[in-house]
Amino acid sequence: MDLHILDHRVRVTSISRGGLQHYTHPLIKLIFLRNRTRCKFFSLTETPENYTVVLDEEGFKDLPPSEHLQVECSTWLPLNVVSNGNASSSSQAVGVTKIAKSVIAPLAEQHVSVFMLSTYQTDFILVREKDLSVVIHTLAEEFNIFQEVDGESLPVHSQDVNNGLQGNGREVPGSTLHPVLIPKNQFCVMSLDPNTLPGIATTLIDVLFYSNSPKEDASVADLECKFFSFSLIDGYVSLVMDAEAQRKFPADLLFTSSSGELWRMVRIGGQPLGFDECGIVAQISQPLADCDISAYYISTFSFDHALVPEEDIMRVTDMLQEQRKGAGC
Ligand code: ARG
Repeated sequence: MDLHILDHRVRVTSISRGGLQHYTHPLIKLIFLRNRTRCKFFSLTETPENYTVVLDEEGFKDLPPSEHLQVECSTWLPLNVVSNGNASSSSQAVGVTKIAKSVIAPLAEQHVSVFMLSTYQTDFILVREKDLSVVIHTLAEEFNIFQEVDGESLPVHSQDVNNGLQGNGREVPGSTLHPVLIPKNQFCVMSLDPNTLPGIATTLIDVLFYSNSPKEDASVADLECKFFSFSLIDGYVSLVMDAEAQRKFPADLLFTSSSGELWRMVRIGGQPLGFDECGIVAQISQPLADCDISAYYISTFSFDHALVPEEDIMRVTDMLQEQRKGAGC
């Protein structure tokens, strides 16, 4: 298996709900006007709390600082696992489940904090630039590691970097179990040909910038959770939306996997999770991997979100309950 360190230097930011109107101009450019920006890594996720914008330094330059914009101070590097076809795994599971044991757990054991971004196409594991040498040492056993530089993939040898390993054994940190919330809405994970983005432009603008009626917010507060994610990364579009938002889009342009699954969400965190704690993704993805349940995983500025197949939600709920009982909560 190969692990690529992508050639993007990424920032994690959030725009307050009320501040969004100050950022529509740069966001429209980043989403729709690809030839006006050099941004290659862009993701926007709306949650009830705020809008999380994860983007490379080129795109970040387009976001003017203001009291509405919060910026996490580190630079993050996206990692991506590429299986070279001969993987011996018999698992059919997709998403973060595939990398739970090989990437997520070992990084958590080394106290490396990650920020996850699953898309229709792949799963990005963002790590802080300052943790890169630990990351390389930790994952070099399992993977051939390549660093992408100006479109070229250069092999990385772990001898080349300083050993920053903590050497503190196998204990998985993050023993705090965070409360979870399972909203009622069903989600779909979709894609579209980037050349047809103009075909969904008016709907996307409507859903992202104008669907914010206060009445709607109040009535769905507990049972349903507003969550809409758009990403445009290296030319690939990925969308995560609930069934209600999906009905607003023209049916012929968006596509999903042939099995057309619906997904349920587990939102992780009662208080905002911050960026330093590690092991949160591991805590959820490990047991899912043990049961071979697929999962997409999207971290946002405040909380984490796992999406699991609708038919598995009971098993996942039981697992989460067991986990919390076992820990005496
Ligand atoms: N750093 C966490 C981990 O390593 C995941 C991200 C949680 N924080 C957040 N703001 N979403 O498991």
